[in-house]
Amino acid sequence: MQGSLFLDTKTLAWPSRGHTQTSSHHLRRLTPPNSTIKFRQPQPISAVATSPPPSLTRQKTHSMPPEKVEIFKSLEGWASEHVLPFLKPVDQCWQPSAFLPDPALPKGEFLDRVQELRDRTNGLPDEYFVVLVGDMITEDALPTYQSMINGLDGVRDETGASSSPWARWTRAWTAEENRHGDLLRTFLYLSGRVDMLMIEKTVQYLIGAGMEPGTENNPYLGFVYTSFQERATFISHGNTARLAKDGGDPVLARMCGTIASDERRHEMAYSKIVEKLLEVDPTGAMVAIADMMRKKITMPAHLMYDGEDPKLFEHFAAVAQRLGVYTADDYADILEFLIGRWRLEKLEGLTAEGARAQEFVCGLAPRIRRLQERADERARKMGPHAVKFSWIFNKEVVL
Ligand SMILES: [Fe+2]
Ligand SMILES: [Fe+2]
Repeated sequence: MQGSLFLDTKTLAWPSRGHTQTSSHHLRRLTPPNSTIKFRQPQPISAVATSPPPSLTRQKTHSMPPEKVEIFKSLEGWASEHVLPFLKPVDQCWQPSAFLPDPALPKGEFLDRVQELRDRTNGLPDEYFVVLVGDMITEDALPTYQSMINGLDGVRDETGASSSPWARWTRAWTAEENRHGDLLRTFLYLSGRVDMLMIEKTVQYLIGAGMEPGTENNPYLGFVYTSFQERATFISHGNTARLAKDGGDPVLARMCGTIASDERRHEMAYSKIVEKLLEVDPTGAMVAIADMMRKKITMPAHLMYDGEDPKLFEHFAAVAQRLGVYTADDYADILEFLIGRWRLEKLEGLTAEGARAQEFVCGLAPRIRRLQERADERARKMGPHAVKFSWIFNKEVVL
């Protein structure tokens, strides 16, 4: 999984609350807190080229009308036929060990393979490792994502081993995803380029912190979110693959490219579910897409912390933007791609509310690009500045 980067720095702020920092684009529009809604204390940040998405103003739960649970029940046959085939049988799946030195080799040979792995990374700069570590940490917080999906009404795994196709999908999807973090983590460990202790601490903090995607236990929102996120990870892993190849590490390029192709397959499955929802409930699905886009798609690792840098996520996202691994343009591209994929511009049979949602979503990408251009301009005027990352032994990286 990966995340969103575009911003409006005028309304952007970074709350300071221990390690559970998030940001908000909407703070000026907030209504005052009441006794049941927790607000976060905002604190301005100095602008960088990118920003994390807004914190939700409130944590809404179970927003899908209960009668719509039936829609997901009635789609079980369809899901078995059209969603489960996007999974790969285990014996046809790659495993991390296929890309890594074989520990069963005689000791000298194994150490030679490790040395070759290390030599291949010589052409890759530290800033590349910052992005690869951030991606790996994002993958490693997988328990959070499985929990999120199992929080969705009507599709959750009720028993832990439910035979419903929704539950079978979620378990097998998790099992496929689990290889991504494993592979990247072992590679990074063997590379010797990164501080594993700080990475491990970041993973522990992140899983402990959770995430705030704004999906409200609502599978409409949840599947819009996962469609967007899977495409975001497809793009970012594809870009780390390209940079690895350019930097002289074809094996790492193959690893990242292989992960990217899994993400693409997952994107196809999730976006197919949304496509089906648009067919059976056009207004409900259209309004859900608009709702998620209004909130902005939150990066799954937006609460990351290493015990040292309270703006760690923001700094990681800025490096990813600068290296072109995941940028604000990508965010707008994903939106445009999904608008085309779901044929939203031609969607018919909408109520007035649905039509308003359609108009908002279909006109959003150019607005995002304009906001980003202005933010880029402001960042250029401020000039570059460097930040230390604990993940690479406190070496500095230019943002
Ligand atoms: Fe993944
Ligand atoms: Fe994925």
